[in-house]
Amino acid sequence: MLIKPIVFSAIQPTGNLTIGNYIGALKQWKIIQKKFFCIYCIADLHSLTIYQKPNLLNKNVLNTLAVFLACGINPNKNIIFIQSHVPQHTQLSWILNCFTYFGELKRMIQFKEKMLLFKNKNINIGLFNYPVLMAADILLYQSEKIPVGKDQIQHIEMVRNIAKRFNSTYGKIFTIPEKIINDQGSSIMSLLNPLKKMSKSDSNSNNIISLFDNNDVITKKIQNAVTDSDIPPNIIYDKINKPGISNLLSIMSNITNNSIQNLEIEFKGKTYNNLKKSIIEHLCIFLNKFRKKYFKYRKNKELLNNIIISGSSEARKKADITLNKVNNVIGLYK
Ligand code: TYM
Repeated sequence: MLIKPIVFSAIQPTGNLTIGNYIGALKQWKIIQKKFFCIYCIADLHSLTIYQKPNLLNKNVLNTLAVFLACGINPNKNIIFIQSHVPQHTQLSWILNCFTYFGELKRMIQFKEKMLLFKNKNINIGLFNYPVLMAADILLYQSEKIPVGKDQIQHIEMVRNIAKRFNSTYGKIFTIPEKIINDQGSSIMSLLNPLKKMSKSDSNSNNIISLFDNNDVITKKIQNAVTDSDIPPNIIYDKINKPGISNLLSIMSNITNNSIQNLEIEFKGKTYNNLKKSIIEHLCIFLNKFRKKYFKYRKNKELLNNIIISGSSEARKKADITLNKVNNVIGLYK
């Protein structure tokens, strides 16, 4: 039997997922499940690095699972599970802490950005340590490919370094993972500031398209999206000189599965308003279809719970194999 390479990825169950999460991650997850054995995780422990209202976190876990299913992730072919249901993640995370340098973590851009954003409030150790838990997530399953958006690349590099450091002392215990990036959508940007990443935690909701925005909201947000003042208007992909238009083209290309080159031809000589109208039309169709599927799954609590129970049980079995190997080689007494 052909053994398929293992893919691992995760999403935090915080708030409403955005079109950025879909394009940068979930869309890839769906595509690669045909070729690989995929393990997809709801990273609830990661989300605790920012205070979560308990009853909301509880609901958000099920919401996130229903999003996975509505995006076409197949629970019968892959493993879908909740991070906190597999205690091996926190166990390995502690061990990997002892193979990670303070200076290494201090260099993480996302940590520095969050420090600025939170203005030094609740800069907890979990926030600092966050990439080590990511390392445990990935390395427990001997994962080879990690589909993520651009904001996670530095974390994946660090995971590789931790794994190599561990292997160089104890032999080949961990597989060294590689990232998979969606070239045309690894970083979907804010609508009002296309130099900043679109983020589900943005305090200004006009910066993001949530997967749950209705037609009116989508229309208003895209109409207000920043473009540029080129005369005549020029619809071409140029991230440096035309970040707003490039971002709109990336969104359009990923939603319609039409290449950027084709879109540039289609919109040659057209106005920015023409482009925006077309994006609004396609986004509304796409998100309406998505939401129909989402609500069907979200209502079926029995299905969701069954997926969680069987996914977590499968994940625990696999995680235990690696954790036992690690415990053995580092000399923990059995
Ligand atoms: P999270 O929940 O912030 O984001 C989930 C995925 O969405 C991608 N993403 C984007 N891609 C393109 N454009 C955007 N604007 C955009 N915003 C978010 C992210 O890159 C990510 O792939 N730490 C991770 C979750 C995690 C994880 C892991 C990922 C925990 N363990 C192990 C991979 C492997 C996170 O907070 O993602």
